[in-house]
Amino acid sequence: MVFLIKRAGHMPITAFSSFTDGLEPNRRNREHFITNTNLDDDRLWVPYANGVWFQPCCFNVTSGGFSLVLKGLPGSMVGTHYHVGTVHGYTMRGHWRYLEHDWIAKPGTYIYEPAGEAHTLVIMDDSPELMITLFVLEGGLIYLDKPANGGFAAYEDGFTLLELTRKYYREAGLDVSKLDTLIR
Ligand SMILES: [Fe+2]
Repeated sequence: MVFLIKRAGHMPITAFSSFTDGLEPNRRNREHFITNTNLDDDRLWVPYANGVWFQPCCFNVTSGGFSLVLKGLPGSMVGTHYHVGTVHGYTMRGHWRYLEHDWIAKPGTYIYEPAGEAHTLVIMDDSPELMITLFVLEGGLIYLDKPANGGFAAYEDGFTLLELTRKYYREAGLDVSKLDTLIR
């Protein structure tokens, strides 16, 4: 079984340096905003892992967290990872679970995860449709090199996800400046 995520042309950082959001300080907006995802527009789905994509909602470079809508094909997975902050999730389509828990999330399921949780997300092989879930993270996450008592494999947070999304938007010919409006 493969526990590490594999991506098309991108891996989360495995070494640390200083990141910025790339904006001039006076361009950091503190106002409220709305953004409209479009679940039916294939171009807007940023590739993340095999059979897994996301559409960003917010890059929280203040907390290091982020909010996104995650999409996954039945049978796909996001490798084992550890959360340094809380997570809220709301399932809109499909059936999925964490290998470490015995419940199954279905449309309408809300989940709250405390900081310190390590888990492996799998979309059920028999999910009646692809999975779509909104996740709100209040901090980064650490991918682990094995499912139990794992060590560091890679890191993801609002900065790395912003970098990944900008790269994909450029390559796909999408409007990169739209992402600046999602930074807080
Ligand atoms: Fe998670």
